[in-house]
Amino acid sequence: MRCGFALVLSLAACNSAVHSPIGASTNTIVIAHRGFSYSAPEHTFAAYDQAIEAGADYIEQDVQRTSDGVLVVIHDATVDRTLRGDASACSGSVADHTLAQLKSCSAGRWFIETFPARARAEYATLRIPTLLEVLQRYKASSRFYIETKDPDRFPGIEREIVEMLRAEGLLQPVPDIAPRVYIQSFSETSLRRFKSLEASLPLIQLVPRVGSSALRGMLDGIRDYAFGIGPHMDDVDASLVSAVHTRCMVIHPYTAESRADIVSLAELDVDGLFTDRPDIARDLIGSPRNPLPRPDRCTVRANRFELVSKVASK
Ligand code: G3P
Ligand code: CA
Repeated sequence: MRCGFALVLSLAACNSAVHSPIGASTNTIVIAHRGFSYSAPEHTFAAYDQAIEAGADYIEQDVQRTSDGVLVVIHDATVDRTLRGDASACSGSVADHTLAQLKSCSAGRWFIETFPARARAEYATLRIPTLLEVLQRYKASSRFYIETKDPDRFPGIEREIVEMLRAEGLLQPVPDIAPRVYIQSFSETSLRRFKSLEASLPLIQLVPRVGSSALRGMLDGIRDYAFGIGPHMDDVDASLVSAVHTRCMVIHPYTAESRADIVSLAELDVDGLFTDRPDIARDLIGSPRNPLPRPDRCTVRANRFELVSKVASK
């Protein structure tokens, strides 16, 4: 997805000064990548508050586990990039620290240091959130897009997430609206564990950059267990979107930051897109519909219903 895509709106969008709303013609949902991570430190309450304020349909969580068994929301395997404080607590592997150690670190000072023009002084006081804190704080105001990060390093993480979602009332055994939670992973094994634990969860197979053709060749296998794919945006073209939709799956590419990329993806009729700029995406795509309809490109596209019925009939 590059500026220059041969559509008038896309070309117009290459000029960031041009306002190019796509409007009601698209069903693309806006997924705030690590929150509004352009404007606030990723995976903090500030980033999530601002994402919701900007009109994101979903907020994303990368989930790992502390040494004392708490699910926390952080992207990197190590804390060195995004936490600041005492070296014994605020450097090294996430999995080697207790929650109390991680909570002692600032989750915002790195952003102030790296992006001073976008920073706010209060970011220095931000702390790493637990997954439970995020679910409880936002379940009345947003939807969640949860990723298991390096799940083989965290045995049992899928069961813990499912049980937490159940306890928080976020499972939808008979969904009739847009999913309140999507689950994504680069790990097929992790997604298959989710499928066996809770068949109603819509699962998204993340795929590293492999090219459109290779990805099309993977779709039938992925469809066996997943509701859709999360490809690198540079792999997305019309033939891929068509192949996904023909199989009644959804496609949620990552990660669009420019107006040109957001417009190009939406015009290709992707079902959702990850963006660090939910403000721009919302502006271009148009007002959110409330409630969001469940994906309904074709009847079978709701293949999680098939999965539910398969489990129920066992
Ligand atoms: O889920 C899309 C995207 O978040 C995957 O990449 O590295 O930002 O987790 P990453
Ligand atoms: Ca992610």
